[in-house]
Amino acid sequence: MTTSAAASGLSTDTASALRPHAEQTYATELEALAGADDRQRPPGWRLSPWAVTQYLLGTTLDDGTEITPKYIGSRRVVEVAVATLATDRALLLIGVPGTAKTWLSEHLAAAVSGDSTLLVQGTAGTSEEAVRYGWNYARLLAEGPSEAALVPSPVMTAMARGSIGRIEELTRMPSDVQDGLITVLSEKALPVAELGVEVQAQRGFNIIATANDRDRGVNDLSSALRRRFNTVVLPVPDSAEDEVRIVTQRVEQLGRSL
Ligand SMILES: Nc1ncnc2c1ncn2[C@@H]1O[C@H](COP(=O)(O)OP(=O)(O)OP(=O)(O)O)[C@@H](O)[C@H]1O
Ligand SMILES: [Mg+2]
Repeated sequence: MTTSAAASGLSTDTASALRPHAEQTYATELEALAGADDRQRPPGWRLSPWAVTQYLLGTTLDDGTEITPKYIGSRRVVEVAVATLATDRALLLIGVPGTAKTWLSEHLAAAVSGDSTLLVQGTAGTSEEAVRYGWNYARLLAEGPSEAALVPSPVMTAMARGSIGRIEELTRMPSDVQDGLITVLSEKALPVAELGVEVQAQRGFNIIATANDRDRGVNDLSSALRRRFNTVVLPVPDSAEDEVRIVTQRVEQLGRSL
């Protein structure tokens, strides 16, 4: 499969990508789960919360399909995370480095929306445009504000598609940019004042953010924003066996992709 942008020579072959996305790597597992899943799915979800949990924790389906465990650790952590996404609260994953915050967020988005790529990386330089929208300035100057000149952020795209949007390292973003998310999360709409329109979030939209414990205090979340998130703390593995399983699994995956 190729992506558009052929003219620029940037189109790439996803089959030979160095690191395929979770929904590509585990496409067969996701398909098998969707087939076996007869429980009710929240609007806009590809799978039921039960099937998402099975995808993350691993199981064997009735037809014998093996679902590999993605997250090794407490079932409760996964259940709370999945349940949160089905409500109108957003999900904030917190933990020390290497506790699978990014990993879990990618797999959750892949299982719920079939797309883990609507991602904003939080850094000190993340601008408001990265969580709202920007403009193609050549077009803006030539034609004035129009929908064609609008460059939607991953968050705006997720709202319009009813998908999960991901924000990495939320607390590294400047506070005013973080607060741009408050309207998105409480109103479920993103107004484009220049065009006099708004993008309304479709059913299935939600946000998964990650934040590093070590960054606490860098740009602490405002209480207004914090209230719109359910926080799940990812623990460090609590036994040596779990740690060995995590490392073994990771080495196997790396070996396979190399
Ligand atoms: N409980 C776990 N179950 C399965 N894999 C795990 C677990 N903990 C860590 N890993 C592995 O560790 C790798 C690193 O985790 P990840 O990059 O998601 O950490 P992080 O919490 O986002 O760290 P950082 O704060 O540095 O961004 C993952 O790719 C995953 O393979
Ligand atoms: Mg991370």
